[in-house]
Amino acid sequence: MNYNLNKEEILLALREELSDINDIQNLQNLKSKYLGKNGLTKSLMKNLKNLDDQAKREYGKVINELKNEIEDIFENKLAELKKAELEEKEKENWVDVTIPGAIRKIGKESFITKTIREIEEIFIGMGFSIAEGPEIEDAWYNFDALNTPKWHPAREMQDTFYITTDQQKLLRTHTSPVQIRTMLKSTPPLAIISPGRVYRKDELDATHSPVFHQVEGLYVDKTVSVSHLKMYLETMAKKLFGNKVSILLRPSYFPFTEPSFEVDISCIFCGGKGCNICKNSGWIEILGAGLVHPNVLKSVNYDPEIWQGFAFGMGVERVALLKYNVPEMREFYKNDVRFIESW
Ligand code: PHE
Repeated sequence: MNYNLNKEEILLALREELSDINDIQNLQNLKSKYLGKNGLTKSLMKNLKNLDDQAKREYGKVINELKNEIEDIFENKLAELKKAELEEKEKENWVDVTIPGAIRKIGKESFITKTIREIEEIFIGMGFSIAEGPEIEDAWYNFDALNTPKWHPAREMQDTFYITTDQQKLLRTHTSPVQIRTMLKSTPPLAIISPGRVYRKDELDATHSPVFHQVEGLYVDKTVSVSHLKMYLETMAKKLFGNKVSILLRPSYFPFTEPSFEVDISCIFCGGKGCNICKNSGWIEILGAGLVHPNVLKSVNYDPEIWQGFAFGMGVERVALLKYNVPEMREFYKNDVRFIESW
């Protein structure tokens, strides 16, 4: 038996085998081949029993050295593999902290809300308060109390979405019923505006929508005349569209006002000279108005011999179209981000 033990040769062979290994599992397998129960160092130990004491000591010393070196080699290799594995993982989960973050867009008020707010501000500044009411309304508030009984032809003027077949519940066709509700709850004098959503059986086109918004106003006091109405509306028009704007009252008809008017503003596009937007008239219609009809005051138990009032109502979309020069109403409801961002 050759007990000659060439340590360097063994280590060289080990290093060669190790150079092919690049994962921990294979390293463990190789380790047991050298250091395991049936491994190389164990089998070298077995030879010891055949040696005399002197040789045993020498041979044992070499085996121990060999074993220690092999252990060191495996330890180093293991550390190397673990480091490589970690680096690999880090590469996989790598985050570039220098990339600029995704910027979240901040929402905006819609044109409609913005326009309603502007109108509200103007009237709050003139001492009005804001009143709101339900969108599902009783026919009495929407029509009867507004001097529009069932037989009244004016009911046809506003194509109504009825909710019940007896036509007692409906989607309000204007925010005038809020004026009735407010008068019933309050004692005059009073000055309110009622902004809100209203419904009419209209097809959606460039200037119509079955759902739109209104701001209506009501002013009740002991002496109220058309000149008061005109002063408030003119102030509003100038604040909304600029000081150069003037207003024009044309006779009209509403069942709940007498006299009644359509109110125009001088064309904001041509300054009143005439253009295709004002159809060469120099004027653009923006609202309906009038002095509160005595029958309306009676229906809320206000004595028309004592109390008088003016009222007006305008379409918010129409005002917004003009003020922000938007080509058509549908833009307001499409939620096209390019449109929303453009103002
Ligand atoms: N309620 C009317 C409409 O919706 C507008 C209006 C209000 C007219 C008040 C006169 C007075 O068309």
